[in-house]
Amino acid sequence: MANSYHQERSLVPPIPQGCPINSDWSPLSPEYLDDPFTISAELAKDPVFYAQSLNYLVVNDMDLVQSIFLDHETFASTNVQDPVFPLCPAASEQLALPDFDPVAVMSNRPEPDHGRIRQFTKSLFSNRRLRELEPYIRSRSHELIDEMLAAGTTAEFISAFAYPLPGEVVFRFIGFPESDDAQLKDWCRERKAFSWGKPSEDQQVKIAKDIVAYWRYCRDFTASKKENPGQDLASELIANWRDNPDKLTYREVESIVYGISFAGHEPVTAALGNALLCLLPDRTQWEELVADPSLIPNAVEEVMRYESSQISWRRVTTVNTTLGGFEIPAGTSVFLNFAAANFSSELFDEPFRFDIHRQNANRNISFGKGVHFCLGSRYAKFEIKVMLEVLVERIPSLRLIEGQTLQRFPNITFRGPEELLVAWG
Ligand code: HEM
Repeated sequence: MANSYHQERSLVPPIPQGCPINSDWSPLSPEYLDDPFTISAELAKDPVFYAQSLNYLVVNDMDLVQSIFLDHETFASTNVQDPVFPLCPAASEQLALPDFDPVAVMSNRPEPDHGRIRQFTKSLFSNRRLRELEPYIRSRSHELIDEMLAAGTTAEFISAFAYPLPGEVVFRFIGFPESDDAQLKDWCRERKAFSWGKPSEDQQVKIAKDIVAYWRYCRDFTASKKENPGQDLASELIANWRDNPDKLTYREVESIVYGISFAGHEPVTAALGNALLCLLPDRTQWEELVADPSLIPNAVEEVMRYESSQISWRRVTTVNTTLGGFEIPAGTSVFLNFAAANFSSELFDEPFRFDIHRQNANRNISFGKGVHFCLGSRYAKFEIKVMLEVLVERIPSLRLIEGQTLQRFPNITFRGPEELLVAWG
């Protein structure tokens, strides 16, 4: 179906002539999942290369990445929610069910529809709405920290704080009932594997079934808000649709709920874990934040540069074009390597130094650029800022437990520790 939310890749055009080919590198290898930044610095000797493990063209150079984001007509975003690898027939069958019909709405919808839809979604991320969220973010942060402190002097930070909290915040923002939080978080984890990972055939079938259930849930939830509106994003979107039925379709409203219910927390959970990984080993910078929390917003920018929770994003060429001096056929899938671009030595002085005072840390590319620039970037940074403010206030002696081995969810884009052991006192 045209504009369906997740599509299987149908075309792998020939490798661009003369382009360097890398047959070894995989973004899913344990070494890369562990440290994509050092490996990307090596890869970046080629601003552009062809990765045989993905059949994608990889772009490492910050200027090229930005120029691709800015040329949305040549480099479409239509593939950003698609599975990276082919699905098995039994999984495809699930997604072909007639009532699995979410449509591309934001990140994966081309112009001019994207602009039309974004206009109705943008208004939902106003300063007023952010301010209204703050008391909830603060009080839930305090409650979760109370529980951590009451349980002893050590904790697994992701399950205790970073995993539940961003979900709870965006789910209240959207209007989902609290009773569904855990189920929604589970479905989103599967969606991450589905669109950005390489699940086995058995896993694919289970995930595909769960994604269908997740979509049905979003549709039922939107229908319930149509009947009983509240003070939430879903109700406001429905009101926008009622006022402008010729400009926004009801299926698009349902699909925005499906989209934001994922985008609004997965990378925030990861960013919180990454923030502690950046800040806690270097006591000096952590102590500075404890002494002066007004430094937190720039520290968040530096975390997003140095250890971003999204280390790649995708595009696909709509026409034959040139890139980095090579002729690229239409239909070529492109992997924008943020893990290389955010360490550009032309843009960032001593890029491998983590520095909460870095003047231009906000020039990182982790939220994209151009027409699809992350709609939730202010929301995400605000949320991470508030959570870090509560953490430095409540547990100034927070530290990482030494000697732990970190695991990361195997996927090409989202990056954060699965578990993080911390201690205090
Ligand atoms: C640290 C957290 C986050 C990161 C790193 C991140 C990153 C990104 C990136 C890279 C894109 C694609 C940009 C492009 O193609 O130019 C994007 C798009 C988007 N993000 Fe985020 N995001 C984060 C948090 C959020 C949150 C909290 C929300 C919502 C509450 C959100 C909603 C969206 C939406 C709706 C889009 C699609 C925008 C469009 O296509 O017009 N994101 N994000």
